[in-house]
Amino acid sequence: MAEQTKASGSNSDVFQAKLMEMVAAAWTTQTLYVAAKLGVPELLAAGPLHDGELAQATGANVRSLARLMRALVALEICIIGPDGKYQLTALGSYLRRDVPGSVRGMALHWGGQLWEMWGHLLDSVMTGRNARSGEDPSAVFASFMGDSEQAAIFNQAMVNITEAVAETVLRAYDFGGIARAVDVGGGYGAMLCAVLRAYPAMRGVLFDLPQVIPGARKYLDDGGVLPRCELIEGSFFDRVPGPANACILKSIIHDWPDDRSVEILHNCAMAVNPARGKVLLVEHVMPARIEPTAAHRRAVHGDLNMMVATGGCERTEEEFKALFERAGLRLNRIVPTDSGYCVIEAVGA
Ligand SMILES: C[S@@+](CC[C@H](N)C(=O)[O-])C[C@H]1O[C@@H](n2cnc3c(N)ncnc32)[C@H](O)[C@@H]1O
Repeated sequence: MAEQTKASGSNSDVFQAKLMEMVAAAWTTQTLYVAAKLGVPELLAAGPLHDGELAQATGANVRSLARLMRALVALEICIIGPDGKYQLTALGSYLRRDVPGSVRGMALHWGGQLWEMWGHLLDSVMTGRNARSGEDPSAVFASFMGDSEQAAIFNQAMVNITEAVAETVLRAYDFGGIARAVDVGGGYGAMLCAVLRAYPAMRGVLFDLPQVIPGARKYLDDGGVLPRCELIEGSFFDRVPGPANACILKSIIHDWPDDRSVEILHNCAMAVNPARGKVLLVEHVMPARIEPTAAHRRAVHGDLNMMVATGGCERTEEEFKALFERAGLRLNRIVPTDSGYCVIEAVGA
């Protein structure tokens, strides 16, 4: 009996600790957001600094900033030396802007726009609407893009994630034989840039809303592929510019409800050669049965994110098949990648 009590006692400690970590997980989002927003990683990249120096450079309250720095040490973003100066760790260096693999944009996006939206998860679950009371995703994008600072954060956050995903896509999927590809809703063009760099004979079109195009031009120029790119502004609900051998849509269809997704896919089908062209979605495929694995957690987390942010969703293979059929396409194959994203290949029906 005593044994049993002890055993269940220790289980309860483990369960309580695990749940407490989940319940309070949001503290890390805000701690990293504030560090990124204040430019702490950039300041420390220039050399170790004391609390006082950091407070002076950021304009923050010195005692409060010291407490934030303590938290950053606990999170392994910095270490504190014997002289009391903070130094950035290898992990923390990925919070810097403009370093390969930077997650600074994502830190700003999660602690800013998404933080506010996730506060409405209960409303979304109760009503079936997104965090903006069911506003059409077009209005959500328009409001992001109407505010140039927020738009830059969002577009940079997409670059952060897409650069990492693109590497895994290129390892898993052969783009050989595609002479001209359109990156539909390509953002700054992280996916297109990676594909063009890997396939030097390919030409590309970056297609997105007008306000995204200047940032895309700079990104593609910095990536050295601008001479092989055309940048076209417009809405994928009006048309997708063709002719092309492939349309690539990375993290697009999951933003939209079914009817709107069918409109986009139909316009892609019109843009590609129906005999040999392909429509390639780069998205998560929601497993038919969920298991408590890291990959499945990423899929469900992405799905809830879409629920609050735009009213879109992550879809199962069957749901993708049905969407393609309605758009005059056929699901040909699903190619998994190491990032958990899949290349979902559709061809003419
Ligand atoms: C989630 S982001 C994905 C960006 C990029 N494909 C990536 O994964 O890095 C969605 C993109 O769709 C674009 N978009 C939204 N509505 C659009 C429309 N009606 N026509 C064209 N692009 C649109 C946005 O500007 C944004 O760049």
